[in-house]
Amino acid sequence: MHTIANQKKERLDRLLSNLGYGSRKDVQWLIRRGCVKVNGEIIKDISLKVLHGDVLVNDEPLDPLELTVIINKPVGYVCSHDNNEGKTIYSLLPHRWQCRTPKISSVGRLDKDTTGVIILTTDGKLNHTLSSPKNLITKIYEVTLASPLRGDEVEVFGNGTMILHGEDKPCLPAKMYIIDNYHAIVEIVEGRYHQVKRMFGAVGNKVVDLHRSRFGDYTCDGLKDGEYKTLEIL
Ligand code: URA
Repeated sequence: MHTIANQKKERLDRLLSNLGYGSRKDVQWLIRRGCVKVNGEIIKDISLKVLHGDVLVNDEPLDPLELTVIINKPVGYVCSHDNNEGKTIYSLLPHRWQCRTPKISSVGRLDKDTTGVIILTTDGKLNHTLSSPKNLITKIYEVTLASPLRGDEVEVFGNGTMILHGEDKPCLPAKMYIIDNYHAIVEIVEGRYHQVKRMFGAVGNKVVDLHRSRFGDYTCDGLKDGEYKTLEIL
């Protein structure tokens, strides 16, 4: 995370453009029109080296240098930057946040038909920390199944020997709590491709509904479908 201590001066036009305020041309126009103040003074020099915290655009402080967001992902949205793949989770964010460099990117992915907690960040290091299986961050999923549970799933998922189709390394032990014959809660610490669906596939079942209710300490409590809030992660 950026702190006041490690902020360095940057060219005004580059800073604004990287924060999504527009292309280099757009922000040069914004600056020349007198919309930008540095330390309370209107500045028209696009190349002035400035500190992020000293700048106002239209008298508003800049968006943070690093942005971390949680979205309550609705069904039908893809975790991709490619608009050709369908409606993207990024389209749920303000336009300016979608135009940042480096881009805001999701920590892992949820399938198009999976709902719930997805975290996005511009901070590459944080993204790596949150997605690395080494850090054993628990993800909790609420699962609805096509067929009744057969009875051995808690043991099979929990013993650390389950090998998913096409892989050679067993999954780390996962906890499972049975709600009823068709519903379960699963806790995993990895984020393999389609992991929960493939785990149930391996025990002869099919996931028909999947909702991630928790990622580490984070839940979507208070967020409606498609809503987001910013997070302070230090
Ligand atoms: N496991 C899956 O199978 N799908 C998801 O979206 C997340 C975890």
